[in-house]
Amino acid sequence: MESRGKKASSFACGMALFLLLGLLLSPSSAELPRFEHPVKCDGSLSFLVVGDWGRKGEFNQTLVAYQMGKIGEQLGIDFVISTGDNFYEDGLTGVDDNAFEESFTNIYTAESLQKQWYAVLGNHDYRGDVLAQLSPVLRKIDGRWLCLRSYILVTEIVDFFFVDTTPFVTKYWSEADHHYDWREVAPHEQYIDNLLKDLDAALKESRAPWRFVVGHHTMRSVSEHGDTQELLEKLLPILQENGVDLYINGHDHCLEHISSRSGSIQYLTSGGGSKAWRGTYTPNADELRFFYDGQGFMSMQVTVASTRIVFYNAFGQVLHELNLGKQVV
Ligand SMILES: *[C@@H]1O[C@H](CO)[C@@H](O)[C@H](O)[C@H]1NC(C)=O
Repeated sequence: MESRGKKASSFACGMALFLLLGLLLSPSSAELPRFEHPVKCDGSLSFLVVGDWGRKGEFNQTLVAYQMGKIGEQLGIDFVISTGDNFYEDGLTGVDDNAFEESFTNIYTAESLQKQWYAVLGNHDYRGDVLAQLSPVLRKIDGRWLCLRSYILVTEIVDFFFVDTTPFVTKYWSEADHHYDWREVAPHEQYIDNLLKDLDAALKESRAPWRFVVGHHTMRSVSEHGDTQELLEKLLPILQENGVDLYINGHDHCLEHISSRSGSIQYLTSGGGSKAWRGTYTPNADELRFFYDGQGFMSMQVTVASTRIVFYNAFGQVLHELNLGKQVV
């Protein structure tokens, strides 16, 4: 009986989201697009985070998706966040690329996952037709899909800042082996300057108790790709200055929790959506709290005063958890 009550109330909240999305989809061009998502009727929010996944079910993508469905059901999740590299190897070829259904719609089929997905682009997505992934046409094919370059998701208890990190990585701009779709992004110096200015302004305006930033690339990582220097130099100072609690990323195909030694920010990697990279480990100067070089995903449950983060493997087993608190004023 209780679960029926929950379903009815989340349906009511879901309808509110639907209306809001309709109103908020055309932002002014000078600012980052802004969306709102209602909190649960008890004032909390729960969601899953998965990254580096789109392989048409292969490399255990289906297994991870199945466990996401089970945990999603247990937590009654409100939405899902994708940390990018949504479609391998080279993004989508266009809005009519079947990979969208084969890697997304037909894989994340559990009822609990039929919620809004908030996605960013990864470097592999830039190797295809980027504009296709950003296109409203995809939202007509599968209404869960929302991918923009950089945007803000506002809720009563946490503001999310989604950041397009691929253009920051200078080596991609001169990479001969792969083609990157830089439409609307070049020249990158100017694009990054504007983005950082908009982000800084939006962070300064944020009044939510929690501030989470989501990007594809790592800031701190002990796995294959390691740290992303450009983000440590350009993005991190803005996050630190504005009291960001968490930086959430994918890119390295593993699960990680690293604590900053110079501030309070926590670095969380959820990049285990399909193919995992086992066996690489390079320590950095920050404090490694957890590292799993296999597949899996992450859940987050947020209230005004607490954030609970749990990492799971491809069997849905809990590998690591952390609880953060915030003084309620
Ligand atoms: C799938 O997951 C299992 C369990 O972690 C692992 O043993 C296996 O190697 C994985 N398969 C692939 C293709 O990654």
